[in-house]
Amino acid sequence: MRLSREFRQQYTQHEMRTHGRKNGFVTAGQEARLLKWLPRIGLPKGRTLAEAGLDMQAPIVMEIGFGNGDFMVHLAQTRPDWQLLGVDIYLPGVAKAVGRLEDAGVIERCRISQLPAQYVLQYQVAEGQLDGIYINHPDPWPKKRHHKRRLIQKDFACLMVSRLKAGGFIRLASDKPDLADWMRDILDMTPGLVNVAGDKGFVEREPDRPWTKFEQRGIREGRNSRFLHYIRKDIV
Ligand SMILES: C[S@@+](CC[C@H](N)C(=O)[O-])C[C@H]1O[C@@H](n2cnc3c(N)ncnc32)[C@H](O)[C@@H]1O
Repeated sequence: MRLSREFRQQYTQHEMRTHGRKNGFVTAGQEARLLKWLPRIGLPKGRTLAEAGLDMQAPIVMEIGFGNGDFMVHLAQTRPDWQLLGVDIYLPGVAKAVGRLEDAGVIERCRISQLPAQYVLQYQVAEGQLDGIYINHPDPWPKKRHHKRRLIQKDFACLMVSRLKAGGFIRLASDKPDLADWMRDILDMTPGLVNVAGDKGFVEREPDRPWTKFEQRGIREGRNSRFLHYIRKDIV
């Protein structure tokens, strides 16, 4: 790893405690791209989203847990009016995403962080700054004693709602029926959110969605994904 300690402290998840993999192999070419791009489009710990050089009057949509970045590339290509904030704690994923965003010519409209989404939302994104949040196939943590590690928890749901504008959306996908139900049950109960499919409902797959790595894996293993769509209602 040739990223210096100082670089890692600023741009990557260096010491924060999270569940899930953080580090792994990054090629020399990927390192070079990280060194080139993170100082320009990385959201370092000490900086807020408002200080990230984006147009705060234009839409900002976040993807949490972007994996290899394919879904972000799709969003950037199909929604040229959106600016994107991508967050994933796994450094090799961040490296792949940076490469794909650069190759697709859309990286300048994106901001990337390797910090946990909980930290980014709590300390770097202010209330009402986001137009939408995508979460595709979050880690399932299937064992009951690990359920507390799941991303979607009551407090995290409230935190997401507070960062959305009125009318903003949260869209989620999971190929694990138990996790899909878990997310729906928490979000259905979260004040300020409306389930577009009605109470306890799931929406249809958006026809133009790209197949993410984990959606494809689910299909190979015989599981169709389920999709959730929530809107933040006006809070009076
Ligand atoms: C199962 S993978 C799904 C990847 C991709 N969205 C897909 O559909 O193929 C879950 C991703 O969430 C990331 N992740 C886990 N906990 C996270 C957290 N607290 N904040 C941000 N990303 C997280 C993991 O590193 C991993 O890349």
